This record gives sequence, C-alpha cells and structure tokens, in this order.
Amino acid sequence: MSNTPSDRNDNSRESAKQSVNVAVLGATGSIGTATIDVLQNLNRVDAQQAWHLWAASGHRNLDSLVELARQFPTPPQRLIMSDVETAQSSPLLDQSGDERLCQTSIQQGAEALVAAAEAAEVDVVVAAIVGRAGLESTLAAVRAGKRVALANKETLVVAGPVVSQAAQQSGSHLLPVDSEHSAIFQCIQAAQSPPKKLILTASGGPFRTWTREQMAAATPDSALAHPTWDMGPKISIDSATMMNKALEIIEARWLFGLPAEAIEVVVHPQSIIHSMVEFEDGSVIAQLSPPDMRLPIQYALTYPRRLPCTSPPMDLTKSWDLTLEVPDMERFPALQLGFEVARMGGTAGAVLNAANEEAVGLFLAGKIRFTDIADGCRDVLQAHDFESNPPLNRLLELDQWARKQLQTRFGLESKRR
Ligand SMILES: NC(=O)c1ccc[n+]([C@@H]2O[C@H](COP(=O)([O-])OP(=O)(O)OC[C@H]3O[C@@H](n4cnc5c(N)ncnc54)[C@H](OP(=O)(O)O)[C@@H]3O)[C@@H](O)[C@H]2O)c1
Repeated sequence: MSNTPSDRNDNSRESAKQSVNVAVLGATGSIGTATIDVLQNLNRVDAQQAWHLWAASGHRNLDSLVELARQFPTPPQRLIMSDVETAQSSPLLDQSGDERLCQTSIQQGAEALVAAAEAAEVDVVVAAIVGRAGLESTLAAVRAGKRVALANKETLVVAGPVVSQAAQQSGSHLLPVDSEHSAIFQCIQAAQSPPKKLILTASGGPFRTWTREQMAAATPDSALAHPTWDMGPKISIDSATMMNKALEIIEARWLFGLPAEAIEVVVHPQSIIHSMVEFEDGSVIAQLSPPDMRLPIQYALTYPRRLPCTSPPMDLTKSWDLTLEVPDMERFPALQLGFEVARMGGTAGAVLNAANEEAVGLFLAGKIRFTDIADGCRDVLQAHDFESNPPLNRLLELDQWARKQLQTRFGLESKRR
C-alpha cells in the first residue's frame, strides 16, 4: 500500500513517539474495558507516547476479548483466556478466521497471566482481575519491576506486606486505580507534604438508608444496583455491604504506609469528592471529579503527566449538593472489620478477603442472606489462628481454609464445587 504525503507525516510522527507496551489483565471487565477506552484516547491525545495493547486477558468472556483486540491498529502480541475450560471448549481459540489476529499468540491458564505480567516487552501492567485470582499476576508484575496500575485491591488486602516488600526490592511503581486511592495519591502530590490522615469517601451504596431488617431481605438485584458507579458484580456487592470500603482501608494502609488509626471513612453519597487528605497543619485537600473510572485509570498510566481525558469534566455552573455523613458501623459491620484487619495485619487480610469472596458468591447464588456476608466474615476471622508475619504460601493456605470455613458456617460445605 503506497503512502500519501500526509500518511508519511502521520507515520513519522508515530515513530517519533516512545512506545509503551501495556498488558491489561482482566481486560473484559468493567475496569478492563474502561482501560481499553483510555488507551484509545491516549493514542489520540498523547504527543509523546504511543500506547500499545501488548497483552490482554479475559477469564470466560472470549468474544469480548477478541472484540477488544480488534480495536487496535496493531493487534496485541498475546491474548490470554485464563479459564482453561472455556479456552479449550471455544472454537474462537482458533483465530485464523481473523487475519489481523493471525500473529497474536492465544494462550490459556493462570500461568499465562504471570508470564505476560513479567514479560520483558511489557512496560505497564493494568491489574484489573477481580478478587484473589489477581494476586499471582500482580505480584509477578511487581517482582519484575513493572509500573503497575492497580485496580485489584484484593492483592494488597491478602498480601500487603509481601507486595510492598517486593516493590521495594524491584523498584516497581504501584499506582492506584481505585478512585479513592488515586484521589489520595493526587492530594499528596498536590501538597508535596506527607499526609497526617487519609479520609476515604464512601458512596454508602444502594442500602445507605436501609435498616438491618430491610438489608436482611435484600435481593441480589437490589444489591447490584449501585446508585453512582457502574461496576462488576463482586465490587457492587462489596459496595452494598461497605466491605469495599473495608478492603480500601486495608489497601490504603499498605499503599500509603499509614496505620489504621490515621485512616477515616466518611459517607459522601454523590461520589464527587473521591477522597481527602489532612496534613500536619490541619489543612484538608480533596480531589473532585464526576464518578468515572477513566480518569484514575489514565492518571495511573500517564503519571506524572496529565492529558485530556474522555471522562466528563466538573460542571461548576450547576448547583452542587456535596454532603458528608458519619458512617454507621452497626448497620454496616463490614466497615468495622476493615479497621480491625488493617490494625491486625498478618494473616487477617487473607482470611477476611477469602471469607468475603466466598460469601458474596453464596449471596449472589441465593444461598445466604445479604446480612450473612459481614456476619460470616466476622466469625471466620475470629475462628482463625492469627499469625503476624506469614509467608505467601501460608496466606494462600489460609485463603482456602477461610473459604471452607465460611461454607461450613452456613452448613454448605458438602455442596462445595
Ligand atoms: N469496576 C470499578 O469501577 C472498580 C473501581 C475500583 C476498583 N475496582 C477493582 O478492580 C478489579 C476489577 O473489578 P471489575 O469491576 O472490573 O470486575 P469485573 O467487571 O467483574 O471484571 C473482572 C475481570 O477479571 C476476570 N476474571 C474473573 N475471574 C477471574 C479469574 N478467576 N482469573 C482470572 N481472571 C478473572 C474477568 O474475566 P471475564 O469477564 O472474561 O470472565 C474480567 O476480565 C476488582 O479488584 C475491583 O475491586 C473496580
């Protein structure tokens, strides 16, 4: 194909840009697809860097994975289906029908996630797998010294000290994607001072004003209907129980190195103030933007640069209600667990996370009540033999133990898959 003069100019502009190879793990999810949007936007607006989707993974949603790979002019080097059963049963594994993807290596299984995360060609890993399943690949990226845009908060909840130590050793830069942690990170950057207190905002979820009795009868559909954010099912249920905020307290503890006592939660139903930081002199700096994950994702990719973003800007010509409420720990006992586990450290995060993942699955399957989620997590946490300085393999053993224990708590162990 011959190039016109303007094509040639475009091509030389492109080749003058520095290439950034990105691995998006969990590309088919809510954060993953928002990341794909961000990469496409960056390729329009970034004059310095060309953003390549080098690898992308999905677990079961092969159609979406192939579809998003087709959106890039240069196809990804690797597409990974982490669920082996889906990969082996799907005819789409043979991509020869699509000429543009014939150079793409199609891989399967959890090991392929780890291999992509640590591949020498990869500059940035977007850790967007949901749950503890994201731990090994995120840790591999950290150990390999990559820049990691971290959405998968469960990795830090389960193994915060292990991940922090690995990042120190490898020089990996962990940049938060969670909007609250991105906000805190941005506030600290703006102040150029160490934080005294981190103030995480919480929307309060769909049951912010419900009684415990109403919550006990809540259906999965009502719990999934988040008032301000459109997210995957697990984090939506976590937002409804406020376990998401509990996990974020623990995440903040490891990301910013402050003790639980220096972390506070306020309920802010509008989700405009994404979090705040108090400094030594009592000044509080907040970060505001409409609720849209493309902004924190993009900032994690381009930091310290700020570039035009497709998320909508604040419309300050409107009148705003920005309200802050004290959270109710009795109606939302998960929040209390978050503070306790952030204080305890050690094995507590792995146990809480596993019990919660199991309980959320059971609630979505209609096997336990909504209020059983936090109650079951508390019981499992209390039943475990706490260790203060566990190695990674002990944390993974306890993950399995806590899942079984949660099932037993509800008399469901024999039905375990
Ligand atoms: N959504 C948000 O707005 C938001 C905000 C802040 C933080 N986060 C965090 O970001 C992470 C992702 O959340 P999400 O809402 O994007 O979740 P999601 O929409 O459910 O997407 C999850 C992704 O992980 C993949 N996945 C599921 N199980 C897996 C497994 N066992 N092994 C490997 N991959 C697996 C899914 O693949 P398939 O779809 O192909 O099955 C999908 O790509 C979570 O840790 C969440 O807490 C999300």
